[in-house]
Amino acid sequence: MGGEEHAISESAQRGLTLFQTKERCTRCHSGLNFTDGLFHNLGIDWDTDQVDVGRYKVSNDPDDIGALKTPTLREISRTAPYMHDGRFVTSEEVIDFYDRGGIQNHHLSNLMIPPNLTIQEKADLVEYMRSLNGEGWEVTPPVAFPQ
Ligand code: HEC
Repeated sequence: MGGEEHAISESAQRGLTLFQTKERCTRCHSGLNFTDGLFHNLGIDWDTDQVDVGRYKVSNDPDDIGALKTPTLREISRTAPYMHDGRFVTSEEVIDFYDRGGIQNHHLSNLMIPPNLTIQEKADLVEYMRSLNGEGWEVTPPVAFPQ
């Protein structure tokens, strides 16, 4: 027993650092449940003719056009496919999407900033996603993320 067997891999550790720093996924996936509970436009759908206007439907606030609620990332590698339209099957595809800065549209969140990740950094983020299964997320140091 003891901490060792729950310890996440070195790659996942590096992924955690990226998640909080360079990539700043914590701009939106913050706190113990990996969600700020808020709504953001990532541009999902805006490359189709079936745009979901998201929170705008209820708020009528133009700032909410295409804004969807940040989901939790707990157990994420068990809950594919990803995004509300299920367009991504793997965590790798999700990371690539963020690395491109989402999908351009007039209402894209200004928190979507392409980080230009290296191949290793992408792999580390994917490893970190895997570590959010089961016991994994419990060893993730709690919050105090920079905003
Ligand atoms: C601007 C806010 C924002 C940022 C920054 C952000 N996300 Fe997200 N994330 C969201 C929202 C909103 C969704 C839901 C989109 C949808 O359903 O179409 C989402 C969905 C996801 C999903 C799919 C969840 C599911 O159950 O379908 C994953 C995985 C994910 N994000 C990982 C990340 C990672 C990794 C980063 C950093 C590289 C990141 N996110 C940065 C807001 C954000």
